Amino acid sequence: MQLSGTWPILNGLITFLIFSCLARAIDLDINDQNSLQDAASTTVYAAMKYYYGNETGQIPGAFPDKWWEGSALFMALLQYWHWTGDTTYNEELSIGMQHQSGDQGDYMPSNYSSYLGNDDQSFWGLAAMMAAELKFPDVKDGFSWLSLAQGTFNSQVKRWDTTACGGGLRWQIFPYQSGYGMKNTVSNGGLFQLSARLARYTNDQQYTDWAEKIWDWTEDSVLLNNKTWYVADSTDMSNDCKTSGNYQWTYNYGTYMMGAAYMYNFTNGDDIWLTRVNGLLTKMSKTFFIDNNVLQDVTCEPTEQCNNNEILFKGLVSSWLAFTALLVPSTYDTIKPKLQSSAQAAAKSCSGKGNNTCGVRWYKSEWDGWQGMEEEISASNIFLANMINFDNGGDTGPVTADTGGNSTSNPNAGEGDGDSSSHSFAPISTGDKAGASILTLIFVFGWVGAMGFMLLGG
Ligand SMILES: *[C@@H]1O[C@H](CO)[C@@H](O)[C@H](O)[C@H]1NC(C)=O
Ligand SMILES: *[C@@H]1O[C@H](CO)[C@@H](O)[C@H](O)[C@H]1NC(C)=O
Ligand SMILES: *[C@@H]1O[C@H](CO)[C@@H](O)[C@H](O)[C@H]1NC(C)=O
Ligand SMILES: *[C@@H]1O[C@H](CO)[C@@H](O)[C@H](O)[C@H]1NC(C)=O
Ligand SMILES: *[C@@H]1O[C@H](CO)[C@@H](O)[C@H](O)[C@H]1NC(C)=O
Ligand SMILES: *[C@@H]1O[C@H](CO)[C@@H](O)[C@H](O)[C@H]1NC(C)=O
Repeated sequence: MQLSGTWPILNGLITFLIFSCLARAIDLDINDQNSLQDAASTTVYAAMKYYYGNETGQIPGAFPDKWWEGSALFMALLQYWHWTGDTTYNEELSIGMQHQSGDQGDYMPSNYSSYLGNDDQSFWGLAAMMAAELKFPDVKDGFSWLSLAQGTFNSQVKRWDTTACGGGLRWQIFPYQSGYGMKNTVSNGGLFQLSARLARYTNDQQYTDWAEKIWDWTEDSVLLNNKTWYVADSTDMSNDCKTSGNYQWTYNYGTYMMGAAYMYNFTNGDDIWLTRVNGLLTKMSKTFFIDNNVLQDVTCEPTEQCNNNEILFKGLVSSWLAFTALLVPSTYDTIKPKLQSSAQAAAKSCSGKGNNTCGVRWYKSEWDGWQGMEEEISASNIFLANMINFDNGGDTGPVTADTGGNSTSNPNAGEGDGDSSSHSFAPISTGDKAGASILTLIFVFGWVGAMGFMLLGG
């Protein structure tokens, strides 16, 4: 009799305990190095739950429907290893980054190369550059990390297009791709950043020249305004790039800031590059840190319309802010609190599913119901970005060939392909179809349909 009276209370208590357990966020002490490492360990592990490339019958580094995202995962793994010393994922990282490098060593692997954008390729080049800069060991049989960055650079500069708008990289590589008639910010910003980083690592003048050339072209275009520091997203060649697509994305600002930070550091503190870093950083602060000083992609987060690509942007930018703080020491005090408040909010967003699943909108400071590899990667990056606040044996910044980097250089890497005008079409294989984007599928079926129509008509 008495017992039956206490059961409902006990039940309620148990339910409450389970519920509060389920809703537990990642417990993060922003001032504790171990706490940050634990947080990153949790989210990197969760991100790797979405990776099957090391399993029997699977392809290393392959993300068939979203090829570029492999580079985002591997950049997170590189930083995880760099900032924690945990080698758990190093082998998969090495194998995956080699496997996707393509026959020429320029991140144009044939399974994907017929429908890649310049931006897709450049993120892999930046991942290889990061491997070289963080002293991730070169493999014995394969391409060196530095040569993969150089190969990507070589294949992209050949595509510099002067048929309209006085220069610039097109968004897409091949004429049949939707977006071939556009020049977009992140493709040009990707090559700018890669050039700047190669310049600093190798001290080879050709990379400096290209970094300056791409900056100057962008500044002359509608994509970047060097008075207001407004950065647009894209521009259309059909009206000679007079108008711009103006969605505001963190990574468009971030990639130019990051490249400028490398040029500042490489030039041993040139004022012009400092002005550029500060201009972009100030504008980013006003545009993307509008809610409790927490980083957000304002174009898609409030309306909950971020796609997988967009969920990764602020993760990339978290890393770029951290490296900028190291390369341009005068920005450190501005960047540090932003990384801290963003990481604290992100940790609170990692309270989903009873297993610390992370959400998209960090600024909510609670799980928002979203889940995916992209959410886990971005959370990992913001936790790891805060590692710049701890002494890592004086060995924190990206190295160069003169400061301990020994990845083998090959200035002629990747020279074998990448010229769109001489590209010969490979037959459409199963692999191509499986990985094809919607747009490419429309193209292929549209073309097959048209051929069928002509044959029938004839
Ligand atoms: C967390 O739980 C969700 C839902 O059960 C699952 O999809 C996900 O793989 C889990 N994550 C980890 C890291 O175990
Ligand atoms: C693949 O990697 C995951 C996570 O790193 C690991 O748990 C798993 O054992 C690996 N699988 C194989 C077949 O090596
Ligand atoms: C390309 O596809 C083939 C066939 O599925 C596969 O064996 C190979 O590993 C793939 N290469 C890359 C770089 O994904
Ligand atoms: C700003 O860009 C214009 C070109 O659009 C250039 O002429 C000018 O020198 C630039 N100003 C600075 C301070 O870099
Ligand atoms: C360049 O970056 C390093 C950190 O990698 C930093 O110690 C150094 O002060 C920077 N140089 C300049 C001119 O700011
Ligand atoms: C590069 O340096 C690492 C240590 O940082 C060393 O293990 C490796 O053997 C070196 N590679 C070459 C090619 O010298």
